[in-house]
Amino acid sequence: MKRGKIIIGLFVVLLMTILGGCTENSQLYKASVDYSIADGIIILDEPARSPEQQSMIEFRCAPMERVRVGFVGLGMRGPGAVERFTYIDGVEINGLCDKYEERAERCQVYLERAGMPKAKVYSGDEGYKALCESEDIDLVYIATPWQLHVEVAVYAMNHGKHVAIEVPSANTVEECWQLVDAAERNKVHCTILENCCYDHFELTTLNMAQQGLFGEIIHAEGAYIHNLEPYWQHYADNWRLEYNQAHNGDIYATHGIGPNCQALNIHRGDKLDYLVAMSTKSINGAKLTKELMGMDECKQGDQINTLIRTHNGCTIDMQHNVMTPRPYSRMYQLVGTEGFANKYPVSGYTFKFDQIKSVASDENGMPDIEALDHHTFAPVEVVKQMTELYKHPVQLQLVDGVPLQEYSLSIGGHGGMDYIMDYRLVYCLRNGLPLDMDVYDAAEWSSMGELTRISIENGSKPVKVPDFTRGDWDKVDGLTFYFAE
Ligand SMILES: NC(=O)c1ccc[n+]([C@@H]2O[C@H](COP(=O)([O-])OP(=O)(O)OC[C@H]3O[C@@H](n4cnc5c(N)ncnc54)[C@H](O)[C@@H]3O)[C@@H](O)[C@H]2O)c1
Repeated sequence: MKRGKIIIGLFVVLLMTILGGCTENSQLYKASVDYSIADGIIILDEPARSPEQQSMIEFRCAPMERVRVGFVGLGMRGPGAVERFTYIDGVEINGLCDKYEERAERCQVYLERAGMPKAKVYSGDEGYKALCESEDIDLVYIATPWQLHVEVAVYAMNHGKHVAIEVPSANTVEECWQLVDAAERNKVHCTILENCCYDHFELTTLNMAQQGLFGEIIHAEGAYIHNLEPYWQHYADNWRLEYNQAHNGDIYATHGIGPNCQALNIHRGDKLDYLVAMSTKSINGAKLTKELMGMDECKQGDQINTLIRTHNGCTIDMQHNVMTPRPYSRMYQLVGTEGFANKYPVSGYTFKFDQIKSVASDENGMPDIEALDHHTFAPVEVVKQMTELYKHPVQLQLVDGVPLQEYSLSIGGHGGMDYIMDYRLVYCLRNGLPLDMDVYDAAEWSSMGELTRISIENGSKPVKVPDFTRGDWDKVDGLTFYFAE
């Protein structure tokens, strides 16, 4: 009897301890992995690497003579990718898959136009499984709704396929780890299709940054500001608005953060340390979800603002807004000790005046304090010359004797950047080179969605960004885009 009372007592103490410990954490119940709070920072648990896994930093697969591709998800985005691949040498398109058969079937026209044989069509909710199991496919290219990215990618990787996943590649931190673990376990590439890293401005600016033109970069800005009003009703089965309605946070951060992380050498000498995020209330989102879905609440604030600090002391400022009538913008800004680059809303560069002599002086040789031209963008002519001079080697890479930048313009896809992205993916696979963006990029950039939500839902508390490389973030010195000898 006495023993029973002691056990009950212990149980009560244990329960109180658990409940007491949870008070501070109670709003975090939705985090996809376990967490703790230390010094006011929310820290999500990082699973250890299992013995059968290997680091994928600088991973190379054996060179592939031909890259045999299967596409999954052929709605608004996917068909353009099928068409672009018909303009890349060494490609076979062997699988077309969509939940709706007619969407997959419609893409045969691109193959026909290119004189390529018809591809096998897969359809239905689980049609992707047969495509991933197929012996005649090396690369699975995924442009499904976000909710399916990881499910399809992990299935493909478990069947030995390389995967390229649209953005964001994963929705939660737990899903990010699934991608990392599947790539490391199966020793296959898992890349993120972050096309904005291949925009001409971003590529040239990255090269300028790597050549030291901006000195040491201390701050970067990036965003996804795109009023999606004309598109909401066209997403298959309303997947996108459903996701926005149910999740707050910067759920589409990769266009903004991807090019910033490349310029800051994230997991190539620096790493994202922690972030804080804040959301506005939802007005347009709430109206929209009421009208289209009959829902009384929209979790997604109309604008999300995030600040990130890196281990080496740099900051990144990000915005997400798909609800209000702002001009399209990815912001894209680099602030360095010696210079500055900005893409939206006005694009230009500024360099310290000892690099470009634009400062005026009066007749006594004193600085003319009225002359503000050294506080503005460098003159248009100078920028034009610098832009030519500092083209990224990827922009100059020759395709049939034509520089890739020029070639991409003739094919298109967001001004050519989509083609450069696809071309580089196939080129690196065919030459057995590390890809420009690896699985850790995919995980770091995609994890923003859940990490920002957790910060917002907990009074903008700082949230630590997981180290998806598991300690390898400083093993490589700087980002390299590889070329065959
Ligand atoms: N990088 C960019 O610039 C860019 C631009 C647009 C879209 N995207 C991304 O592309 C992806 C697709 O977006 P979208 O605009 O084409 O959406 P969408 O709704 O037009 O297309 C999604 C397609 O996936 C199909 N699908 C659904 N379930 C499926 C399943 N189980 N198996 C196979 N197919 C299935 C749908 O039928 C639909 O055809 C998203 O991840 C989006 O973020 C990226």
